[in-house]
Amino acid sequence: MTKALYPGSFDPITYGHIDIIKRAQKLFDRLVVAVMRNPDKKMLFTLEERHRLVIEALREVKLNTIEIITHDGLLVDLARQLRVDAVVRGLRASTDFEYEFQLALTNRDLDPGFESVYLMTSRDFSFISSSIVRQVKSYGGDVRRFVPASVDLALEAHFKERRTEMNGQSRS
Ligand code: COA
Repeated sequence: MTKALYPGSFDPITYGHIDIIKRAQKLFDRLVVAVMRNPDKKMLFTLEERHRLVIEALREVKLNTIEIITHDGLLVDLARQLRVDAVVRGLRASTDFEYEFQLALTNRDLDPGFESVYLMTSRDFSFISSSIVRQVKSYGGDVRRFVPASVDLALEAHFKERRTEMNGQSRS
């Protein structure tokens, strides 16, 4: 029985991530999605919020059998703890390669048994990223082609709250 781990910051989860999850599910008997921290990024949603959004989004697209966890620590430790055969990551463009290469080599250095598998992102999602989605939504743009409705709603609520706060500050 093969088991894989798909880690990410998922801030928020997009159809790009979901495409990788669907395809990885076909390659492995079991797939665990881990919502993690990326210390290099300033997050919009908390770890708990991102976890909830992944659960809701996967429910929405009827991917009900996937285990979704959070992990605040090193990826190699989680991979070892879960005894996975491989860690799955998506590759969009050559720009992703440098980063993924560094990530893979560092992880392999930390644990020689660490193995990663890369799936090329489908053409339809190659230009999507969580930060693009956040930016478009922050200016009131429509992101429903890029994220499930539950994620769109969460983004809507987040930026509405922020606009209210900013309006309050400019009046005082
Ligand atoms: N299609 C479209 N976009 C995709 C995609 C796909 N198939 N797959 C990923 N993306 C995008 C995401 O939207 C995201 O966009 P953003 O940069 O604008 O936010 C970006 O690609 C990558 O994000 P994601 O895959 O969600 O996670 P990440 O790269 O931030 O995750 C961790 C990195 C969490 C795996 C890494 O930081 C980690 O391992 N952290 C734990 C600490 C650790 O072990 N550190 C040592 C590692 S060397």
